Amino acid sequence: MRKITVVGAGTMGHGIAEVAAIAGYEVWLADISEDILRNALKRIRWSLDKLYEKGQLREHPDKIMERIKTVVSIDKNGNYTEDFARVLSETNFMIEAIPEKLELKQQLFRFADEKAPDHAILATNTSSLPITEIAAATKRPERVVGMHFFNPPPLMPLVEVIKGEKTSDETVRVTVELAKRFGKQPVVVNKDVPGFIVNRILARVLNEACHMVARGEASVVEVDSALKYKLGLPMGAFELADYSGIDVFYYVFQAMAQRGFRAHPCPLFKEKFEKGELGVKTGKGFYEYP
Ligand code: CAA
Repeated sequence: MRKITVVGAGTMGHGIAEVAAIAGYEVWLADISEDILRNALKRIRWSLDKLYEKGQLREHPDKIMERIKTVVSIDKNGNYTEDFARVLSETNFMIEAIPEKLELKQQLFRFADEKAPDHAILATNTSSLPITEIAAATKRPERVVGMHFFNPPPLMPLVEVIKGEKTSDETVRVTVELAKRFGKQPVVVNKDVPGFIVNRILARVLNEACHMVARGEASVVEVDSALKYKLGLPMGAFELADYSGIDVFYYVFQAMAQRGFRAHPCPLFKEKFEKGELGVKTGKGFYEYP
Protein backbone atom coordinates (compact mmCIF):
# COMPACT_ATOMS: atom_id res chain seq x y z
CA MET A 1 0.00 0.00 0.00
CA ARG A 2 1.64 3.22 -1.17
CA LYS A 3 -1.36 5.52 -1.55
CA ILE A 4 -3.54 7.15 1.08
CA THR A 5 -6.61 9.31 0.53
CA VAL A 6 -7.36 11.89 3.21
CA VAL A 7 -10.81 13.48 3.01
CA GLY A 8 -11.08 16.83 4.78
CA ALA A 9 -8.17 19.28 4.71
CA GLY A 10 -8.92 21.23 7.89
CA THR A 11 -7.01 21.26 11.18
CA MET A 12 -6.75 17.48 11.43
CA GLY A 13 -6.92 16.45 7.76
CA HIS A 14 -4.02 18.59 6.57
CA GLY A 15 -1.88 17.33 9.46
CA ILE A 16 -2.76 13.69 8.74
CA ALA A 17 -1.90 14.17 5.04
CA GLU A 18 1.43 15.67 6.12
CA VAL A 19 2.20 12.74 8.42
CA ALA A 20 1.43 10.24 5.62
CA ALA A 21 3.58 12.12 3.09
CA ILE A 22 6.50 12.35 5.56
CA ALA A 23 6.24 8.55 5.93
CA GLY A 24 6.69 8.19 2.17
CA TYR A 25 3.07 7.64 1.05
CA GLU A 26 1.53 9.20 -2.05
CA VAL A 27 -1.37 11.25 -0.69
CA TRP A 28 -4.59 12.49 -2.24
CA LEU A 29 -6.01 15.28 -0.10
CA ALA A 30 -9.68 16.09 -0.77
CA ASP A 31 -11.90 18.95 0.34
CA ILE A 32 -14.84 20.97 -0.91
CA SER A 33 -12.97 23.94 -2.43
CA GLU A 34 -9.70 24.94 -4.08
CA ASP A 35 -9.27 27.69 -1.46
CA ILE A 36 -9.40 25.24 1.45
CA LEU A 37 -6.93 22.96 -0.34
CA ARG A 38 -4.53 25.82 -1.12
CA ASN A 39 -4.62 26.91 2.50
CA ALA A 40 -4.02 23.33 3.67
CA LEU A 41 -0.94 23.04 1.43
CA LYS A 42 0.38 26.30 2.89
CA ARG A 43 -0.09 25.01 6.44
CA ILE A 44 1.64 21.73 5.55
CA ARG A 45 4.55 23.62 4.02
CA TRP A 46 4.88 25.79 7.14
CA SER A 47 4.97 22.73 9.39
CA LEU A 48 7.42 20.82 7.15
CA ASP A 49 9.78 23.82 7.09
CA LYS A 50 9.64 23.96 10.92
CA LEU A 51 10.43 20.26 11.24
CA TYR A 52 13.19 20.51 8.63
CA GLU A 53 14.83 23.49 10.41
CA LYS A 54 14.98 21.33 13.54
CA GLY A 55 16.55 18.39 11.70
CA GLN A 56 13.46 16.20 12.18
CA LEU A 57 12.96 15.27 8.51
CA ARG A 58 15.03 12.88 6.44
CA GLU A 59 13.97 14.59 3.18
CA HIS A 60 13.70 18.17 1.97
CA PRO A 61 10.14 19.60 2.30
CA ASP A 62 10.04 20.07 -1.52
CA LYS A 63 10.28 16.31 -1.99
CA ILE A 64 7.59 15.58 0.60
CA MET A 65 5.24 18.19 -0.89
CA GLU A 66 5.59 16.49 -4.29
CA ARG A 67 3.83 13.44 -2.84
CA ILE A 68 0.68 15.40 -1.91
CA LYS A 69 -1.95 15.94 -4.62
CA THR A 70 -5.27 17.65 -4.08
CA VAL A 71 -8.76 17.04 -5.41
CA VAL A 72 -12.01 18.99 -5.00
CA SER A 73 -14.63 16.59 -3.66
CA ILE A 74 -17.90 18.47 -4.18
CA ASP A 75 -19.16 20.58 -7.12
CA LYS A 76 -21.27 23.76 -7.06
CA ASN A 77 -24.49 21.71 -6.94
CA GLY A 78 -23.37 19.82 -3.87
CA ASN A 79 -22.63 16.56 -5.71
CA TYR A 80 -19.43 14.56 -5.39
CA THR A 81 -17.13 15.28 -8.36
CA GLU A 82 -16.00 12.73 -10.93
CA ASP A 83 -12.38 13.50 -10.04
CA PHE A 84 -13.07 12.55 -6.44
CA ALA A 85 -14.86 9.38 -7.53
CA ARG A 86 -11.81 8.46 -9.61
CA VAL A 87 -9.44 9.04 -6.68
CA LEU A 88 -11.63 6.83 -4.46
CA SER A 89 -11.71 4.12 -7.13
CA GLU A 90 -7.91 3.85 -6.79
CA THR A 91 -7.88 4.05 -2.99
CA ASN A 92 -6.67 1.26 -0.72
CA PHE A 93 -6.94 3.26 2.48
CA MET A 94 -9.10 6.31 3.12
CA ILE A 95 -8.88 8.47 6.23
CA GLU A 96 -11.88 10.75 6.72
CA ALA A 97 -11.44 14.00 8.68
CA ILE A 98 -14.53 16.04 7.74
CA PRO A 99 -16.74 17.95 10.25
CA GLU A 100 -18.21 15.99 13.17
CA LYS A 101 -21.70 15.59 11.74
CA LEU A 102 -22.94 12.00 11.57
CA GLU A 103 -25.10 12.51 8.45
CA LEU A 104 -22.22 14.12 6.55
CA LYS A 105 -19.88 11.29 7.47
CA GLN A 106 -22.44 8.61 6.60
CA GLN A 107 -23.03 10.25 3.21
CA LEU A 108 -19.29 10.22 2.48
CA PHE A 109 -18.86 6.62 3.63
CA ARG A 110 -21.82 5.53 1.48
CA PHE A 111 -20.19 7.13 -1.56
CA ALA A 112 -16.70 5.82 -0.76
CA ASP A 113 -18.18 2.34 -0.29
CA GLU A 114 -19.67 2.51 -3.80
CA LYS A 115 -16.48 3.80 -5.45
CA ALA A 116 -13.53 2.29 -3.58
CA PRO A 117 -12.24 -1.21 -4.39
CA ASP A 118 -13.76 -4.00 -2.26
CA HIS A 119 -10.53 -4.56 -0.33
CA ALA A 120 -10.14 -0.86 0.64
CA ILE A 121 -10.25 0.12 4.30
CA LEU A 122 -12.32 3.19 5.19
CA ALA A 123 -11.08 4.85 8.38
CA THR A 124 -12.58 7.76 10.27
CA ASN A 125 -10.73 10.29 12.42
CA THR A 126 -13.93 11.03 14.37
CA SER A 127 -13.26 12.11 17.94
CA SER A 128 -16.72 11.32 19.28
CA LEU A 129 -19.10 9.64 16.85
CA PRO A 130 -19.51 5.85 17.06
CA ILE A 131 -17.57 3.89 14.42
CA THR A 132 -20.48 1.41 14.32
CA GLU A 133 -22.95 4.14 13.27
CA ILE A 134 -20.62 5.42 10.53
CA ALA A 135 -19.93 1.86 9.31
CA ALA A 136 -23.69 1.19 9.09
CA ALA A 137 -23.81 3.44 6.00
CA THR A 138 -21.63 0.91 4.11
CA LYS A 139 -21.84 -2.68 2.94
CA ARG A 140 -18.36 -3.32 4.38
CA PRO A 141 -18.62 -2.59 8.14
CA GLU A 142 -15.80 -5.10 8.72
CA ARG A 143 -13.47 -2.75 6.82
CA VAL A 144 -14.51 0.46 8.62
CA VAL A 145 -12.36 1.50 11.58
CA GLY A 146 -11.57 4.49 13.78
CA MET A 147 -8.13 6.06 13.32
CA HIS A 148 -8.12 8.96 15.75
CA PHE A 149 -5.16 11.36 15.58
CA PHE A 150 -4.49 14.20 18.00
CA ASN A 151 -3.85 17.85 17.28
CA PRO A 152 -1.32 18.69 15.90
CA PRO A 153 -0.92 15.34 14.09
CA PRO A 154 2.75 15.83 13.11
CA LEU A 155 3.76 16.29 16.78
CA MET A 156 1.35 14.09 18.73
CA PRO A 157 2.53 10.47 18.94
CA LEU A 158 -0.77 8.79 19.90
CA VAL A 159 -3.29 7.29 17.46
CA GLU A 160 -6.38 5.52 18.84
CA VAL A 161 -7.41 2.61 16.58
CA ILE A 162 -11.06 1.97 17.37
CA LYS A 163 -12.98 -1.21 16.62
CA GLY A 164 -16.60 -0.80 15.61
CA GLU A 165 -18.98 -3.67 16.45
CA LYS A 166 -18.26 -5.34 13.10
CA THR A 167 -14.67 -4.22 12.40
CA SER A 168 -12.54 -7.26 11.58
CA ASP A 169 -9.30 -8.13 13.36
CA GLU A 170 -7.52 -7.91 9.99
CA THR A 171 -8.70 -4.30 9.52
CA VAL A 172 -7.41 -3.43 12.99
CA ARG A 173 -4.09 -5.16 12.24
CA VAL A 174 -3.58 -3.21 8.97
CA THR A 175 -4.54 0.08 10.63
CA VAL A 176 -2.19 -0.48 13.57
CA GLU A 177 0.60 -1.32 11.11
CA LEU A 178 -0.13 1.87 9.13
CA ALA A 179 -0.07 4.01 12.29
CA LYS A 180 3.33 2.52 13.12
CA ARG A 181 4.60 3.28 9.61
CA PHE A 182 3.43 6.85 10.19
CA GLY A 183 5.80 6.85 13.19
CA LYS A 184 2.91 6.88 15.66
CA GLN A 185 2.13 4.93 18.81
CA PRO A 186 -1.20 3.17 18.19
CA VAL A 187 -3.48 2.13 21.06
CA VAL A 188 -6.32 -0.24 20.15
CA VAL A 189 -9.70 0.65 21.64
CA ASN A 190 -11.71 -2.58 21.63
CA LYS A 191 -15.09 -1.11 22.60
CA ASP A 192 -16.75 1.61 20.58
CA VAL A 193 -17.67 3.63 23.71
CA PRO A 194 -18.48 7.39 23.67
CA GLY A 195 -15.23 9.39 23.65
CA PHE A 196 -13.09 6.23 23.19
CA ILE A 197 -10.28 6.53 25.77
CA VAL A 198 -8.72 9.99 25.56
CA ASN A 199 -11.78 12.17 25.07
CA ARG A 200 -13.69 10.24 27.71
CA ILE A 201 -11.06 11.17 30.28
CA LEU A 202 -10.36 14.62 28.83
CA ALA A 203 -14.09 15.44 28.99
CA ARG A 204 -14.03 14.89 32.77
CA VAL A 205 -10.87 17.00 33.18
CA LEU A 206 -12.08 19.91 31.01
CA ASN A 207 -15.54 19.83 32.53
CA GLU A 208 -14.26 19.74 36.12
CA ALA A 209 -11.78 22.56 35.39
CA CYS A 210 -14.61 24.60 33.90
CA HIS A 211 -16.98 23.94 36.85
CA MET A 212 -14.29 25.16 39.28
CA VAL A 213 -14.04 28.45 37.38
CA ALA A 214 -17.84 28.75 36.99
CA ARG A 215 -18.27 28.27 40.77
CA GLY A 216 -15.59 30.91 41.48
CA GLU A 217 -13.29 28.40 43.22
CA ALA A 218 -10.28 29.13 41.01
CA SER A 219 -9.40 31.29 38.02
CA VAL A 220 -8.62 30.05 34.51
CA VAL A 221 -4.92 30.82 35.04
CA GLU A 222 -4.81 29.10 38.45
CA VAL A 223 -6.39 25.90 37.13
CA ASP A 224 -4.09 25.84 34.08
CA SER A 225 -1.00 26.54 36.20
CA ALA A 226 -1.87 23.66 38.53
CA LEU A 227 -2.37 21.26 35.63
CA LYS A 228 0.89 22.29 33.95
CA TYR A 229 3.23 22.80 36.86
CA LYS A 230 1.92 20.14 39.24
CA LEU A 231 0.39 17.47 37.00
CA GLY A 232 2.98 18.08 34.24
CA LEU A 233 0.51 18.37 31.34
CA PRO A 234 1.96 20.22 28.30
CA MET A 235 -0.99 22.61 28.26
CA GLY A 236 -3.57 23.62 30.84
CA ALA A 237 -7.22 22.58 30.33
CA PHE A 238 -8.29 26.00 29.07
CA GLU A 239 -5.20 26.48 26.89
CA LEU A 240 -5.96 23.13 25.30
CA ALA A 241 -9.63 24.00 24.75
CA ASP A 242 -8.61 27.29 23.09
CA TYR A 243 -5.90 25.58 21.04
CA SER A 244 -8.11 22.75 19.71
CA GLY A 245 -11.25 24.90 19.48
CA ILE A 246 -14.03 25.26 22.05
CA ASP A 247 -16.49 24.25 19.30
CA VAL A 248 -14.59 20.98 18.78
CA PHE A 249 -14.93 20.01 22.44
CA TYR A 250 -18.51 21.33 22.59
CA TYR A 251 -19.52 18.95 19.78
CA VAL A 252 -17.53 16.10 21.35
CA PHE A 253 -19.34 16.59 24.69
CA GLN A 254 -22.73 16.80 22.94
CA ALA A 255 -22.16 13.62 20.95
CA MET A 256 -21.01 11.80 24.09
CA ALA A 257 -23.97 13.05 26.14
CA GLN A 258 -26.42 11.94 23.42
CA ARG A 259 -25.00 8.43 23.75
CA GLY A 260 -25.37 8.13 27.48
CA PHE A 261 -22.13 9.62 28.82
CA ARG A 262 -23.08 10.95 32.23
CA ALA A 263 -21.38 14.27 32.95
CA HIS A 264 -23.05 17.48 34.01
CA PRO A 265 -21.91 19.85 31.22
CA CYS A 266 -20.26 23.05 32.37
CA PRO A 267 -22.31 26.15 31.37
CA LEU A 268 -19.18 28.24 30.56
CA PHE A 269 -18.41 26.00 27.59
CA LYS A 270 -21.89 26.53 26.13
CA GLU A 271 -21.68 30.27 26.79
CA LYS A 272 -18.32 30.57 24.96
CA PHE A 273 -19.62 28.44 22.09
CA GLU A 274 -22.77 30.53 21.66
CA LYS A 275 -20.80 33.80 21.76
CA GLY A 276 -18.48 32.46 19.05
CA GLU A 277 -15.49 32.79 21.39
CA LEU A 278 -13.93 29.57 20.15
CA GLY A 279 -10.29 30.03 21.13
CA VAL A 280 -7.15 30.81 19.12
CA LYS A 281 -8.95 30.72 15.77
CA THR A 282 -11.38 33.51 16.70
CA GLY A 283 -8.87 35.56 18.72
CA LYS A 284 -10.72 34.91 21.99
CA GLY A 285 -11.72 31.91 24.05
CA PHE A 286 -10.85 31.46 27.71
CA TYR A 287 -7.80 33.62 26.89
CA GLU A 288 -7.32 36.45 24.38
CA TYR A 289 -5.06 36.18 21.31
CA PRO A 290 -4.20 39.63 19.98
N1 CAA B 1 4.18 21.36 12.94
C1 CAA B 1 5.47 21.65 13.20
N2 CAA B 1 5.85 22.41 14.26
C2 CAA B 1 4.87 22.89 15.08
C3 CAA B 1 3.50 22.61 14.86
C4 CAA B 1 3.17 21.81 13.74
N3 CAA B 1 1.90 21.51 13.44
N4 CAA B 1 2.78 23.22 15.83
C5 CAA B 1 3.66 23.85 16.64
N5 CAA B 1 4.92 23.64 16.19
C6 CAA B 1 6.15 24.16 16.71
C7 CAA B 1 6.05 25.59 17.20
O1 CAA B 1 6.10 26.51 16.12
C8 CAA B 1 7.26 25.70 18.07
O2 CAA B 1 8.40 25.91 17.26
P1 CAA B 1 9.64 26.81 17.77
O3 CAA B 1 10.33 25.96 18.82
O4 CAA B 1 10.48 26.98 16.55
O5 CAA B 1 9.08 28.08 18.30
C9 CAA B 1 7.36 24.28 18.69
O6 CAA B 1 6.53 23.43 17.89
C10 CAA B 1 6.90 24.25 20.10
O7 CAA B 1 5.64 24.85 20.17
P2 CAA B 1 5.27 25.94 21.23
O8 CAA B 1 6.47 26.69 21.65
O9 CAA B 1 4.10 26.71 20.69
O10 CAA B 1 4.68 25.17 22.44
P3 CAA B 1 4.93 23.78 23.11
O11 CAA B 1 6.36 23.54 23.43
O12 CAA B 1 3.94 23.77 24.19
O13 CAA B 1 4.51 22.65 22.05
C11 CAA B 1 2.55 21.39 21.56
C12 CAA B 1 3.31 22.70 21.37
C13 CAA B 1 3.34 20.24 20.95
C14 CAA B 1 1.22 21.55 20.84
C15 CAA B 1 2.36 21.10 23.11
O14 CAA B 1 1.88 22.23 23.74
C16 CAA B 1 1.41 19.98 23.39
O15 CAA B 1 1.75 18.82 23.34
N6 CAA B 1 0.15 20.35 23.75
C17 CAA B 1 -0.91 19.37 24.01
C18 CAA B 1 -1.61 19.07 22.75
C19 CAA B 1 -2.68 18.04 22.91
O16 CAA B 1 -2.94 17.54 24.00
N7 CAA B 1 -3.34 17.72 21.81
C20 CAA B 1 -4.47 16.85 21.82
C21 CAA B 1 -5.71 17.71 21.78
S1 CAA B 1 -7.18 16.76 21.94
C22 CAA B 1 -7.43 16.23 20.36
O17 CAA B 1 -6.82 16.55 19.41
C23 CAA B 1 -8.46 15.18 20.28
C24 CAA B 1 -9.80 15.55 19.96
O18 CAA B 1 -10.43 14.62 19.58
C25 CAA B 1 -10.43 16.85 20.17
